[in-house]
Formats: sequence, C-alpha cells, structure tokens
Amino acid sequence: MYETWEELEQSIVNCNKCKLCKTRQNIVFGVGNRNAKIMFIGEGPGADEDRLGEPFVGKAGKLMNMAFQAVGIKREEVYIANIVKCRPPANRNPEEDECVACLDYLRNQVMLVKPKIIVLLGSVALKNVLGKEYGITASRGNVIEKKGITYIPTWHPAALLRDESKKIDFINDLKLVLKNGEYYGEK
Ligand code: URA
Ligand code: SF4
Repeated sequence: MYETWEELEQSIVNCNKCKLCKTRQNIVFGVGNRNAKIMFIGEGPGADEDRLGEPFVGKAGKLMNMAFQAVGIKREEVYIANIVKCRPPANRNPEEDECVACLDYLRNQVMLVKPKIIVLLGSVALKNVLGKEYGITASRGNVIEKKGITYIPTWHPAALLRDESKKIDFINDLKLVLKNGEYYGEK
C-alpha cells in the first residue's frame, strides 16, 4: 500500500497486471474529492470512460449526475472509482482474475480517502467489496456497517437505463446515503 496519491498513481501507469491492459485506451483511475466523506464504487469503464480516462462520463454517468442533482449531491464533493480500472471489451463484466488483479488499487484508494460511507453501485462492486454471498436485489437499500465504514449497496446506474422502475429506488438509496452522514462534503 502506498501512503500518498502520487506514489499510487505512479504505480498504476502502464499497469499490465491483467489482460484488460491489452485492449484499453486509458486507465480510468478515479475522480473527485480525495477527502470525501462519501465514495462511490462502480464496475469498470465503458467506451466513453476508456476514451476520456474518467469514470461515469457516459450515458449511465449522466443519469447518475442527474440523480445526484435531484438529491443535492455535488459530483465534485464525492470520490468515484471502479472495481477495474481498464475497460472490459464489449462492456462485458470484468472476470474474476481481472477483479482480483485490480482490487489492490481500489483498496489503496479507500485507505487514502478514508470515506465514512461507501456506495456500492451494482452486483460487481457489491460482491468484490463485501463478498460473493451478497446479492444486489436483497442488499440494495440496506445499511451495512463493517470496520468503521458504512456500506450502502444500490443499483448500478446502467440498470436504470434498462429498467425505469429502478430509478425511484436509486433516488431513495441516495437519500439514505445523505441521511447516514451529517453532511456530504469533506470530513
Ligand atoms: N459503469 C461503471 O461501472 N463505471 C463507469 O465508470 C462507467 C460505467
Ligand atoms: Fe492493471 Fe487494473 Fe488495468 Fe488490469 S484492469 S491492467 S489490473 S489497472
């Protein structure tokens, strides 16, 4: 584990720890407030993120931004990262070996941000962070305390694009996030 962002960022440049390095355009490290109280964890970059090097800038990201706005979360005040930092080809789910290879970067990001609340966006984030025994349908909207961090799983924003009815759940889960912190900005 690295003690500084500079060392961590340096360590990921040209990473070839898994096969996703062969097809990526850009490593999508993470974005936002490095002292955030709330951290969001997604799955992995899509085509837009791969092109621009920033998480959640495509269709799902725009929807997430709108939901943020609706409840009063400022994107620049939270920290946003993914389970894998390189795009899985054709937007397939990241495979087990890819998640395992990449997870230390995320652990280090969590160690440096020290968030109070981690929002797990979808099944891949949930299972890789809390364990394979968790399912997203049963877990979303729950508040799970572990080692001083509050975890709140919710739908992945891309799921809202496929199923409109999940939008209200997503908004409610974001409200739950805000209710679990006295404020949403810096610690
Ligand atoms: N979906 C994700 O899980 N992460 C992104 O950064 C974009 C889409
Ligand atoms: Fe390295 Fe993660 Fe990219 Fe794999 S997905 S090459 S482990 S940065």
